[in-house]
Amino acid sequence: MGAFRAVLKLSELPAGRMRAVSIDGRELLLCHTREGIFALDNLCTHAEARLCEGRLRGTRLLCPLHGGAFDVRDGRVLAGPAQQPLARYAVRIAQADIEVAL
Ligand code: FES
Repeated sequence: MGAFRAVLKLSELPAGRMRAVSIDGRELLLCHTREGIFALDNLCTHAEARLCEGRLRGTRLLCPLHGGAFDVRDGRVLAGPAQQPLARYAVRIAQADIEVAL
């Protein structure tokens, strides 16, 4: 795991919302749920739809293209057609920043 780096102000990600950020040429999705903030790959493992264009329902992330669903807490698949889990990254809050480690 690499070093933690600030990717977004905490104030820019209200609870219940998600937002795409870029780090080292990789696009990540930050999801702010009641259970915390999680960072995952922004591309669906099924056919590479951008998940930031889908929906966040609690800790369930819905793909906009074919309705696949992932659990943002660990990236596991909750509903197909996606079969492979989403990569997830460590997140911490430091001061007022959301930091992610790749
Ligand atoms: S691209 Fe996400 S379920 Fe098909």
